[in-house]
Amino acid sequence: MHVGQRRMRTPRVRPTVIVMNPPGGEGSDDEAYAGLALVYEWLVPDALLEPRDAADAFAPAVELIPAGGRVIDCAAGSGQLAVGLASRGFDVTATDASPAMITRTRDLAAHHAVSLATAVCTWQDLPTLAVSGPFDAVFCVGNSISHADGRQARRSALAAMANLLSPKGILAISARDWEQVRAAGDRLDVQDRLVHRRGRAGVVVRAWRLGETWDDAHQLEVAIALPAADGSIATHQERLTLWAFRRHELVEDLAAVGQDVVTVTTFLGPGEYLIVARPAATPPAREGRP
Ligand SMILES: C[S@@+](CC[C@H](N)C(=O)[O-])C[C@H]1O[C@@H](n2cnc3c(N)ncnc32)[C@H](O)[C@@H]1O
Repeated sequence: MHVGQRRMRTPRVRPTVIVMNPPGGEGSDDEAYAGLALVYEWLVPDALLEPRDAADAFAPAVELIPAGGRVIDCAAGSGQLAVGLASRGFDVTATDASPAMITRTRDLAAHHAVSLATAVCTWQDLPTLAVSGPFDAVFCVGNSISHADGRQARRSALAAMANLLSPKGILAISARDWEQVRAAGDRLDVQDRLVHRRGRAGVVVRAWRLGETWDDAHQLEVAIALPAADGSIATHQERLTLWAFRRHELVEDLAAVGQDVVTVTTFLGPGEYLIVARPAATPPAREGRP
């Protein structure tokens, strides 16, 4: 090196890590979704990102709803399905336990210039919802029902949903195939492609820590790494607690709250399924005089 020549130093890129809920912390799933809401579109599959596509994807349920019918999505998340259904002319209410998710749903509805009713509401609080039933369809999709902690909680959540239905209404639940999740064991899933949203490419990593038995809590740590133009990486990371169930158990739970299964279809591939159920037919009236 000549005298006077200055060594150029390569700037050290320091990753920015935004940990919304510290791993291992006791953050609730509400807090986790407050963090995930900031970047939730990186978790929404391409096929469901556009509201109209989201409504199309749920055709086995949507086709059973009368035109202009009343619909509630009670785990609306960032709102793609609710907004897609409102665009189709349904009278939509979107609820979710997470205020941040409901804000995203409202923003998406405004962006698409559709109107829908929204409320922050847990399944437990559905009976007190200001927008009362009956509804022609209740949706609880995207594996949301796995947040109900165990069979009793799942049944009371499903009962609250079923109570909103008109006699010919439908209840649509989509869920992960937990048999596959448990068969694969504890693992780290690194998505093998970049996910492009809002002009930014991201990488999604999921770390599964399964409960020892079906009845134990299952942990899913989700991290979304978003490289920025300056070379830094912002990582949004949250831990969710989920409760597993076999498909036949969900069918039994639906039966326990008075719902008959109409269809079961695979949803976006073999790892997820969609169940459409409706209130069991009332027993035929007895003939003859009482
Ligand atoms: C995996 S996200 C799915 C969101 C959306 N349905 C989708 O498919 O993208 C689960 C959603 O369920 C909501 N959730 C969890 N527990 C809930 C409860 N007890 N009552 C209402 N919503 C709940 C969460 O806030 C979150 O928005």
